[in-house]
Amino acid sequence: MSYEVTVQPSGHIFELAENETVLDGALRHGILLPYSCRGGSCGTCFGSVLSGKINFPDGLPMGLMESDRDAGKALFCVATAESDITIDIREVRRIQEIEVKTLPAKVISVKKLAPDVMEVRLALPPTQRLQFRAGQYIDFLLRNKRRRAFSIANAPVNDEFLELHIRHVEGGEFTSMVFERFHVKTLVRIEAPLGNFYIREESNRPLILVAGGTGFAPLKGMIEQLRSEEDTRPIHLYWGGRAKVDLYHLELAESWAREERFEFIPVLSDKAEGDNWQGREGYVHSAVARDFPDLSGHDVYMAGPPPMIVAATAAFVAQGLPREQLFADSFEFSD
Ligand code: FES
Repeated sequence: MSYEVTVQPSGHIFELAENETVLDGALRHGILLPYSCRGGSCGTCFGSVLSGKINFPDGLPMGLMESDRDAGKALFCVATAESDITIDIREVRRIQEIEVKTLPAKVISVKKLAPDVMEVRLALPPTQRLQFRAGQYIDFLLRNKRRRAFSIANAPVNDEFLELHIRHVEGGEFTSMVFERFHVKTLVRIEAPLGNFYIREESNRPLILVAGGTGFAPLKGMIEQLRSEEDTRPIHLYWGGRAKVDLYHLELAESWAREERFEFIPVLSDKAEGDNWQGREGYVHSAVARDFPDLSGHDVYMAGPPPMIVAATAAFVAQGLPREQLFADSFEFSD
């Protein structure tokens, strides 16, 4: 049995699946209720129940007093609904309202996606969750105040881990360490979430997402979030690599493209001998420019190395894309 949740003062309405917590349901629909621990202790998701009936399946949470509950207050990360409900809680409106935290984290898996790309998944301590927007990044905090930045490759709707795609830079101190010494249980320190690269919900323009190499990572997080929210905007994903091996999640992207509103265009700029390739060739931004002579009615999100971002910006603006409809995550590969 599902119930309807109305959030005040925003007026947002969403469906809650059976036994789903109010917070989980909200995040699944892209509604940003504030949270931190997701376990009923920190109080960040505190709010009021204005009408209807809620339940705490695991009993009164640690962070809520009986008197609060009796006064109609709740911690929505551990509350389920027993009827349609109306709640009062201030949604996170601006990305700056999301708390940036310094946290210990533990590697829970490492997997080679390509000879030079490693997927690393991190888990936070059991009492901690990280609130973030799909597309943001984390910094690894290293000795001597050094940092290395990597985009989060999963969506907040699946925030029980943080997924990163780390490209090995020849001779790079940190990425060599990842490839040679990271294993399950390696402990790290991170600061997160960071950055302003996230999907703007106020637009309903079709989306063009452009990735260069591991620039695929933040876009993957965005796509996972958009799919979970049942956002209906058309999505055109362009992913450029030099050779086929650089498109390390080809099957995943192709599986998204089975949806009618989703188009996936892989592009190789320097295909390797032996690449069995019938697809597009050249620079990825040139492929976009060729397909969309008029970009004025689209929002473009792109992630990749600076030369790609610079060339793409010039090409897209020349084809009518207003600057305020262009969002870029330009990164040097962390060494
Ligand atoms: Fe900490 Fe709900 S997020 S109590």
